Amino acid sequence: WTTQDMTFVLFGATGDLAKRKLFPALYNLFLDGKLPDSISIIGLGRNYFSDDIFQSKVESALREYSRRAVQTTGLNEFLAKFRYCKFDATDNDSYQNLHELIHDREIELNIPGNRLFYLSVAPQLVDIITSGLNQSGISQTSGWKRLIVEKPFGSDLKTARQLNESLNNAFNDEEIYRIDHYLGKPMVQNLESFEFANPIFGSLLDHKRIANIQITACETVGVETRADYYDQAGAIRDMVQNHLLQLVMMTALHLPEKMTAEEIRKQKVTIMESLRPINKDKMEQDVVRGQYEAGEIFDTPVVGYKEEPGVNASSMNDTYFAARLYIDNPSWSGIPFYIRTGKRIGTKSTKIVIEFTNNVKQIDALPADGITPNLLIFEISPNEGISLVINMKNPSSNQFEPASINFSTNSEDQPEAYELLLFDAIRGNATFFANWKEVELSWQWIQPLLEAFQENTLPLHSYPAGSNGPEAANQLLQADQFNWW
Ligand code: BG6
Repeated sequence: WTTQDMTFVLFGATGDLAKRKLFPALYNLFLDGKLPDSISIIGLGRNYFSDDIFQSKVESALREYSRRAVQTTGLNEFLAKFRYCKFDATDNDSYQNLHELIHDREIELNIPGNRLFYLSVAPQLVDIITSGLNQSGISQTSGWKRLIVEKPFGSDLKTARQLNESLNNAFNDEEIYRIDHYLGKPMVQNLESFEFANPIFGSLLDHKRIANIQITACETVGVETRADYYDQAGAIRDMVQNHLLQLVMMTALHLPEKMTAEEIRKQKVTIMESLRPINKDKMEQDVVRGQYEAGEIFDTPVVGYKEEPGVNASSMNDTYFAARLYIDNPSWSGIPFYIRTGKRIGTKSTKIVIEFTNNVKQIDALPADGITPNLLIFEISPNEGISLVINMKNPSSNQFEPASINFSTNSEDQPEAYELLLFDAIRGNATFFANWKEVELSWQWIQPLLEAFQENTLPLHSYPAGSNGPEAANQLLQADQFNWW
């Protein structure tokens, strides 16, 4: 890999994401020698700060959130890369000041006009800032330019299309890096090459051997302090349209012959095109939505969703979603993919479980009782690892018992999602970013669900905080003689 000298402009530099994820990610890249030799980092925020104060804020963020301890050596060199600029997205002077600062630093550090813009801002500002960058001339540069945008990318199919059109006025599609931090999780990145690097599994990972695939992304946290956004978005926009559908694509993907970002994206698009549309009339058979009630998390009582600060007391918003999906292509035809996500579930767990068909026949003298299906499990978070569940005969009882072969990684040694993704954006590798077509097809797939949720034509099941989700989600699998792992 090579990186080129560049300017990194961060909109929202005083926000939470910058503090918790982006500064630590840049610092860890710096420690690994992965930042370009010359990089100018410009942070923007609404309030005034001197460069010194801003640099000390960056330093505190590193001390609190960096996965590796801050080292005295090199710290000043790292912090000296940062400058701050007070910025108001609706004010022309702000763009002019920013333009001057970018330009001055480019001259000072002898950086060619390579510019990466990171928008970690409220959704309504994305459009405004990109047009501002265009009109002020900041995005007309002699080098390359790239734009990183955070989710949400629109709030439905129509608004996503509008947003995309507006971004396209200033940036070409290949210059837009739509970040989905799930694509940066090391174990998700592993999915892509797992089959390639492990030929013994190649012949097993298809519809003849697999009974079903289960994708789970559950959390113990509730709505936290984000009611304003979440009560409008719900689990479907917050997790399903982006993270869960990306996990479906990454699981169903077979490595293309040419391992380029373009080929991988093409495959992901083909998968989304083969994703069977949800039948609006039979939605209840395939989809479960839920909302948490009061309960206990780790033995501590917590309030129900409607009692959360900032949530409408009669809210019908979904905090849980589960569904049965089919990908109608030769590899996956007939195999159900079950997906689920929920807030205030008893355990935090993001994982993909591949359940193999279990057609063991009972033979005399070898009772098959206790034989469970073989499972291949990708643990994505909080633990990272791969395990294989097999059946072993217990010699004393002569009964089969499931045993697990585990490989797990130590998370502290693993780069964080934002670190991997920022590095990719810096070097111009878009493989693990969502391209427009994938995003558009994801919105298109969930659009009938958004409408059904809006019209309340689908039951909203309740579940106690700390449980595994609504009973209806269990019934979804039981109807096919399966259960959630
Ligand atoms: C974010 C959602 O994208 O992902 C949050 O907006 C959610 O609501 C979070 O909590 C989960 O991410 P992770 O990495 O903790 O699984």
